Amino acid sequence: MLEIHNISRSYTGSSQTHTVIDHLNLTVCDHDFFVIVGPSGCGKSTLLRLIGGFDRPDSGSLLLDGTEITAPSKDIMMVFQSFDQLFPWYTVLGNLTYAMKKAGLFRTLAERKECARSYLSMAGLSGFENAYPHQLSGGMKQRAALARALSLKPKVLLMDEPFSSLDIATKKALYPIVTAMAAQTGCTILLVTHDIHEARTLGSHIAVMSRQKKGISAVFSKEAMPEAETLEKMLEENA
Ligand SMILES: Nc1ncnc2c1ncn2[C@@H]1O[C@H](COP(=O)(O)OP(=O)(O)OP(=O)(O)O)[C@@H](O)[C@H]1O
Ligand SMILES: [Mg+2]
Repeated sequence: MLEIHNISRSYTGSSQTHTVIDHLNLTVCDHDFFVIVGPSGCGKSTLLRLIGGFDRPDSGSLLLDGTEITAPSKDIMMVFQSFDQLFPWYTVLGNLTYAMKKAGLFRTLAERKECARSYLSMAGLSGFENAYPHQLSGGMKQRAALARALSLKPKVLLMDEPFSSLDIATKKALYPIVTAMAAQTGCTILLVTHDIHEARTLGSHIAVMSRQKKGISAVFSKEAMPEAETLEKMLEENA
């Protein structure tokens, strides 16, 4: 379980301090697919960086299974918006086996390859194991990045607008794959998006972040998820 207690984060510029997150609280349970929406600049990426241990709050605490998050670890992986996350000099399979080796998973290359193939199959990339990243479409690169992150068996996967550079048809084709991968791996996922349809399709929960509140203004579970129009309106009100 991920517990965020009263965290605040400010950035100091040349003349003034700008508080981005102010006493934010959030609990994300194991296996949740937690989607965060909010207007540009409200602090979504800042929040993900804090959860990933890439940044530290000025006050408050972040706990994963009761242990404070103080630095990046292999328990928490991140997938970004950029299509350039894969190592260009490795094949798709090589990207996964290299990451596994670095993470100390499995003793032999054969074991790593077998595991990598199963994650690539989940991501719909069977047959592309030997392709290089430049030979893949944007959607395929993102699926490969997702497979690589999940193959390291993190407890939590953070995704910062991973699909926002893809066209609508590609995104729609990707959603069932992402949902199935989340279910099969049981990984807890936090995903940031500006796409309300994406949030409603993927999320077990949706959190709305607010610029005025400098925190989370509402959390909805799947059963109580508002219509897309209502969510759009909330986003405008929270801008
Ligand atoms: N390292 C930093 N130094 C100074 N200011 C920063 C830093 N990182 C973020 N900020 C500021 O914090 C605010 C929130 O930024 P953040 O990137 O978290 O927003 P966001 O919600 O992810 O926006 P977007 O939807 O556009 O990606 C912005 O005003 C930004 O300029
Ligand atoms: Mg951002």
